[in-house]
Amino acid sequence: MAETTELIKEKVDVADFIKQYVVLSPAGKNLKGLCPFHKEKSPSFIVSPDRQMWHCFGCNSGGDVISFLMKYENIEFIEALKQLADRAGIELKRVGTGDQKKYDVLYDINRVAKDFFKASLHEDLGRPALKYLIERGLKKETVEEFEIGLALPSSDSLTRHLTKMGFTVTDIERAGISLKTDRGTYWDRFRNRIMFPLYNNFGKVVGFTGRVMPGNESADVGKYVNSPETPVFNKSKLLFGFFKTKNNIRETNTTVLVEGQMDFLMAWQDGIKNLVATSGTALTADHLKTLRRLSENIVLSFDNDSAGRAAAERTIDLAEAHDYNVKVILFKDKELKDPADIVRAKPGHFEQLISAAVPAMEYYFDFYGISRNQDIAAKKKSIRSALAKIKVISSPIEQQHWLNKLTTLSGVPEVALTAEMAAIKVNPVTGLHDAEQTVLDQPQAQLGRLDLIVRRLISLMLIDESLVKEIEAEKQLIPAQYLPILTFVMKDPKASPPADLAPVINLLYLESSLGDPTKAKTEWAELMIRLRGEYHNFRKNQLKIKITEAEKTRNEPELQKLLGEYRNLISGDK
Ligand code: UTP
Ligand code: MN
Repeated sequence: MAETTELIKEKVDVADFIKQYVVLSPAGKNLKGLCPFHKEKSPSFIVSPDRQMWHCFGCNSGGDVISFLMKYENIEFIEALKQLADRAGIELKRVGTGDQKKYDVLYDINRVAKDFFKASLHEDLGRPALKYLIERGLKKETVEEFEIGLALPSSDSLTRHLTKMGFTVTDIERAGISLKTDRGTYWDRFRNRIMFPLYNNFGKVVGFTGRVMPGNESADVGKYVNSPETPVFNKSKLLFGFFKTKNNIRETNTTVLVEGQMDFLMAWQDGIKNLVATSGTALTADHLKTLRRLSENIVLSFDNDSAGRAAAERTIDLAEAHDYNVKVILFKDKELKDPADIVRAKPGHFEQLISAAVPAMEYYFDFYGISRNQDIAAKKKSIRSALAKIKVISSPIEQQHWLNKLTTLSGVPEVALTAEMAAIKVNPVTGLHDAEQTVLDQPQAQLGRLDLIVRRLISLMLIDESLVKEIEAEKQLIPAQYLPILTFVMKDPKASPPADLAPVINLLYLESSLGDPTKAKTEWAELMIRLRGEYHNFRKNQLKIKITEAEKTRNEPELQKLLGEYRNLISGDK
């Protein structure tokens, strides 16, 4: 594995690779851009082609090309390795370890199952299912493109098909395709269901959602059943359709989120390409983090029923906590339950609804039924609910905006709203975002002033090599632990550093691209003044300690000598 990792890192250039995800511009010997892992307005994300590493000095994350991909796509090490190996044309199987094979076989089984389901849909026995899909409004091309299939009512035909191809029942069960019965036999997990493959971010099938055949719905079987979690299928990370739509989401800076796969497919073929569906699992923080990296705006669509309304509040608040601009689609037509219904009834209309989506707060006003003629008991309750939402808004400008709206809508004067709002206790924001921010904002380590000055000086020497000469005369000011680093940088800053110094030197090397090279000399001069000041304080403290010591041991000559030195030292302070 170690060999593969090295081979991949040799073949895939970190800068070329990251350029596909982040806009990078030259910055000294390195490249810089806006960090994809936290929100920022000026770049603190640095990529170094020489060092083959990246680091964000804003959120303090960093690493090599593999860790970038893992973080960016929310995938495991082994998965990232595979993707990179594909790209570099390295055959992973050749070097793959047992671990790798364990993953490969799960992908293989899911792929074979997908093909098997697909074939069944186009057999005679599949005709009713295909007819149902077409009647619901799906086009043939959509069925093809998303590789929709069918699990026939048979008890173990897929399991047998897979074993015939050489897969072991243990692996088939691990892939989530078969279930082991009490008697030790294996059954197909999905029977008599329309099968929607679930693709991971790279387009590999990792599981399925199966919809019960129409006419077979009953209270004791789920309408939709998903594959279980497996080493390649993580429900809280996977979004239906994301593999197909991620580029569009990035380009439009907007994610449209719908609940079900039928909603997704109908909207997709109706021309909406920047969407995803949660499909069966509640929206998670992981989903939102993935999406938020690609877009700042999210448009939420909830089913027009009690379950949909119940999901709305949680989803809205979670999206807001992830620093999304949240809008919500309102549709009042009681006949149409969800986007799939809308697209079928009125092609093109869903797009209009997306454009007309309202800010989350307006959705809440509408949801709580706030109006001038609401009766007073209901009004008190609805306004309090709305005020609880307004109170947690971090921007005072935005807060004011919604208070104004609320006054207009309810007829309650703003002074009353403000008084009522002050009395409302809100959870000290449940927002994940806040928790995350504090982690992100933490300085990279709790470094002292002196460390920061010295590190920055070394960093400046990397920006402007003429400064290397300047330090020679001042070496006594530098704390001992930095001398090896200094010596190395003075000799040849471009050489690759010895392992023990590499972590600090590499970081300083990347950090050097953050400063403005034309200001390096000025900054240097300022820092040198501060360094002398620090050194001065350091000397003073040292002398104080020695003086106390001499007093204790009543060493009169030594004491006099030290006091003399001390007076000399502080004479410059005034
Ligand atoms: P719905 O019950 O609204 O289904 O559940 P739907 O999307 O309208 O389904 P169709 O149109 O009748 O085919 C919304 C989503 O919740 C998940 C599915 O992903 C579904 O699309 N779900 C629903 C489950 O995972 N399990 C269920 O039993 C029901
Ligand atoms: Mn539906």
